[in-house]
Amino acid sequence: MTLTQPVLDLQLPRVARVDAALTQARSYPHLRYMGSKYRLLPALADTFAQLGGETALDPFTGSGVVSYLLKAQGFHVTSRDYLNFPVTLARASCVNQTTMLTEEDVARISSGENRDGRDFISRTYGGLYFTSGDLAFLDSAWSQIATMEGAQQDLAIASLVLAAARKQPRGVFTVTGLRYDDGRESLHLPLAEQFRRCVEAWNSSVFDGPACQAERGDVKSAEGNWDLVYLDPPYAPPRDDNDYIKRYWFLEGLSDYWQDGTAEIMETTRTKKLAKRATAFGSKRTIGDALAATLDQFSDSSIVLSYGSNAVPDLDTLTGLITDVKGSRPEVITLRHRYHFGTHASATRREAEEYILVAP
Ligand SMILES: C[S@@+](CC[C@H](N)C(=O)[O-])C[C@H]1O[C@@H](n2cnc3c(N)ncnc32)[C@H](O)[C@@H]1O
Repeated sequence: MTLTQPVLDLQLPRVARVDAALTQARSYPHLRYMGSKYRLLPALADTFAQLGGETALDPFTGSGVVSYLLKAQGFHVTSRDYLNFPVTLARASCVNQTTMLTEEDVARISSGENRDGRDFISRTYGGLYFTSGDLAFLDSAWSQIATMEGAQQDLAIASLVLAAARKQPRGVFTVTGLRYDDGRESLHLPLAEQFRRCVEAWNSSVFDGPACQAERGDVKSAEGNWDLVYLDPPYAPPRDDNDYIKRYWFLEGLSDYWQDGTAEIMETTRTKKLAKRATAFGSKRTIGDALAATLDQFSDSSIVLSYGSNAVPDLDTLTGLITDVKGSRPEVITLRHRYHFGTHASATRREAEEYILVAP
């Protein structure tokens, strides 16, 4: 297997460098993730290139695609998220510079041989998600992955996570059964085959670039002193809460085998999901103060903040918060954006403006 060449060539003019980084970023495996910025990469790449710098923090990493873009643009990126699986994806794709999974690795993981007889996933989720064959595959695959280390293990877990997300209708785990089955091939492929395809996807994302890091934690415990900080917090809706664990708890559990089978499960729920994780960014009541504190925390860095017009607080408030900590008004880039969440009927409702606020 050959490695992709580093994409950052400082001899190239800036526009060509942005194009090369975007080409690399488009090879990032696609995970359906609420609020992911796959479609906004061109605007973000241009903004990051204009701000420049060497170090960057992405403390709301999510799918990991923006961290990956920053690495492709030559930044030493530190990815963070308060959930474990986004950090694992970032380790596999950004921290990892050269490791790929081999055919032998894939054959071992998908052999069906359950090294230690573990059955937590089959026991807990039988009849709720996937087929019994798929659940047995997850248990046996994990029994093999547990013997791996470092980037090899990260790639294997990233592939399992992506495979599980692609096999679940709409990529979310709020419903059981196949209510949203639209006949798509990816929903019917056995998970072991889906896993194989996802390994290929992660393998081809691997490239040798600037040294990067990934760590799990709440944004408020992140260190300061970065050239650039990209803030992409959850967008608090005017009604209801914005809860990532409610949608993606299965991927979170899968990323560390439900903390080796010890994670707290909400046994009384139909979905047997993981308990909610509190975040001040989840609700309109607390997000204003949380944003103000986060902006203040990174006031020494160039800040790029993503936010949506259908969320709270509004653009005037955000502009005011940034002006307060930076001493001048941010530049505001406004883009029309259609969220891919929701059914076709509600898709129009989800059409909104996406803001990128830039404060050097
Ligand atoms: C809008 S998403 C980020 C999307 C990402 N930029 C992408 O393109 O996929 C927000 C992320 O913030 C994380 N998050 C929520 N509250 C957090 C907190 N207090 N500290 C760190 N991460 C948090 C969520 O787990 C979620 O992954």
